[in-house]
Amino acid sequence: MLEINDIHVTYGRLRALKGVSLSVRQGEIVCLIGPNGAGKSTTLAAVAGGVVPHRGTIVLDGKPLAAGRPEQTARLGLSLVPEGRHVFGTLTVAENLRVATYMRRDRAAVAADYERVLNLFPRLKERIGSPGGRLSGGEQQMLVIARALLTRPRLLLVDEPSLGLAPKIVDQVYEILLAARKAEGLTLLINEQSSHRILKHADRVYVIRNGHIRLHDDAAKLADGEAIKRAYFGFGDEPAAADEPEEEAA
Ligand SMILES: Nc1ncnc2c1ncn2[C@@H]1O[C@H](COP(=O)(O)OP(=O)(O)O)[C@@H](O)[C@H]1O
Ligand SMILES: [Mg+2]
Repeated sequence: MLEINDIHVTYGRLRALKGVSLSVRQGEIVCLIGPNGAGKSTTLAAVAGGVVPHRGTIVLDGKPLAAGRPEQTARLGLSLVPEGRHVFGTLTVAENLRVATYMRRDRAAVAADYERVLNLFPRLKERIGSPGGRLSGGEQQMLVIARALLTRPRLLLVDEPSLGLAPKIVDQVYEILLAARKAEGLTLLINEQSSHRILKHADRVYVIRNGHIRLHDDAAKLADGEAIKRAYFGFGDEPAAADEPEEEAA
């Protein structure tokens, strides 16, 4: 469904992605795991059209995506849930959700979309009249995911949904993502800083460090966490690769 081929992204002189390739098949949950600063958010932003790679291609359903066109990627069924759970603190849950659909005129379809999405999130239904700022971190994460689902994506990109959440809540968020996949035929590409806890929910895992993919495999084959740890921290790399200096962009 999604194929990222050898993309390079720079910010000024900083090379954030140095040839990242990654693929996601229809219906999969793929996790991109790596330490802070590895290039995870940049990878999702490149797919969503928020940053423009200076090399490489991104292909969706066999067709190359035009770089830097977020409105086009949204039309093609891609939705990004950015990191940081941006809810409107003074707006209620219902109002936060309405933000996703206020441009739409197909009232009946919008109502059906609310019904469908809220059925996945019983907790949000209970809190529908509460201000977004009063929700717990886990509830806010569910709210931003629900808001994204209202745009009927086929491919959902989620940036660090687990960050700062208690382990039990992380499981709840993933259970909802799994339920959404089942109910909506959703495909998921998810960034995480840690593979702990999420490995059991993922189909495949990529490990990124310092702008390079270091490892990718079926989650089941990585279950003991050893290979991930080595790739994540660079244990066993050539010394030059482990302490690779930040080269300047050409
Ligand atoms: N807007 C930006 N301007 C300059 N540098 C950036 C910007 N966004 C990210 N970076 C840098 O690019 C690298 C990759 O960042 P990012 O993709 O956010 O990593 P991650 O999401 O894995 O933490 C880091 O070195 C980060 O400091
Ligand atoms: Mg990030």
